[in-house]
Amino acid sequence: MREDGSIGVGVLGLGVIGSQVARVLLDQTERLAHQVGAPVVLRRAVDIDTAKLQASGLPGHLLTTDAADVVNSPEVDVVVELIGGVHPAMDLLTTALSQGKHAVTANKELMAKQGPELIELAEQNGVHLLYEASVGGGIPIIGPLKKDLLANEITSIYAIINGTTNYIVTKMSREGLDFDSALRQAQAAGFAESDPTNDIEGFDPAYKLAILASLAFHTRVRAEDVYREGISRLAPQDFQYADELGYAIKLLAIARCDDDVLSLRVHPALVPYEHLLARVDGVFNAIEIEGDLVGQVLFHGQGAGPLPTSSAVVGDTVEIARGIVSRSGSVRPGNFSREVSISPMEELTTSYYARLTVADHAGVLANITKVLGDLSISIASIIQKNADPTVRTAEIVITTHPAQERAVQEAFHQMEQIDVVKEVGSLIRVENWS
Ligand code: HSE
Repeated sequence: MREDGSIGVGVLGLGVIGSQVARVLLDQTERLAHQVGAPVVLRRAVDIDTAKLQASGLPGHLLTTDAADVVNSPEVDVVVELIGGVHPAMDLLTTALSQGKHAVTANKELMAKQGPELIELAEQNGVHLLYEASVGGGIPIIGPLKKDLLANEITSIYAIINGTTNYIVTKMSREGLDFDSALRQAQAAGFAESDPTNDIEGFDPAYKLAILASLAFHTRVRAEDVYREGISRLAPQDFQYADELGYAIKLLAIARCDDDVLSLRVHPALVPYEHLLARVDGVFNAIEIEGDLVGQVLFHGQGAGPLPTSSAVVGDTVEIARGIVSRSGSVRPGNFSREVSISPMEELTTSYYARLTVADHAGVLANITKVLGDLSISIASIIQKNADPTVRTAEIVITTHPAQERAVQEAFHQMEQIDVVKEVGSLIRVENWS
């Protein structure tokens, strides 16, 4: 706190989120001062890109291209990091925390990769590092995991935590679009980046799942512990056939903990329509947590965008500022010391949906069912779909009872070697909640 009783804030990164956060700090001074009990004052805002400084519309005296003006400034009590990525965000936050400044970040990649180290550094320096906006944009989820749900033994997280991919699968489902067309629409609407890899290949939700699972299971989960598959191989007919079977297709992020063994995965999944996650559409996110006391709770809302993200970032800033005013010390930010093991993906047991193009003549199904039977995979349904009489092929859709991933991958690998199987088009896991 400054001598004049105010709390100084510095913002690193003036993209759309940083500019919005700065705007809220400037426009809502009265509301924020009322919440905190002292003025919360934006003292510096930095971006190396001068075009972004100009586009931000912020008063010139606040702007700088030198991040050291923020992290070293004696006028700044709280550093808000909205640069994204690991470098230089890691170095800047390390400097800020080491100098006894509090910090707020929306950076999922950094928190997934270096979160526990940064949190420890904050603790050593008696300051806070808050990161509500790193998962689910404006949805309060980090706070509830750190506080409201602490009495629970959390057993599972099922989440839709990437708005871009949820927009794409919603388009494919509702409009029968192929993946490339739906992606182009997402880009045109400003929801997908020009290089969409981080979203469509599932890196972004894997980072977010690592953050959630670390908090929920009190351990250190790294992004590379999360099995990851993206959505680019989904075809429009998968949505149609899944619909006929009573399922939506969603990119799910799933973490389960059974007896200190964690399974962590991000992949497309068939979700039964009766489950609320099947009805989370467009850019919305939702996170379902199951605890032994609370049962299932669902958090739903806007997972990205300047306004929802600024809600979480400014909320964290206010919480820190209140702590400074009340001089309350560092509250333990979580315990990540539990020893767990990570279950290999091959040991997953779940049901599967597969779509194959096969030769359309007698005996073909017998070939296929033999492969499944030999690997102890029990078929739940098998349906012949579109036949093409000109080339004598047909599409068949198989669903299985719960089976082990290792056996299922082996079965479909073997099928690809059989003459009568022209293509294994899709193999998608089916999540049936018990
Ligand atoms: N790219 C992310 C999404 C938003 O599509 O959800 C930021 O986390």
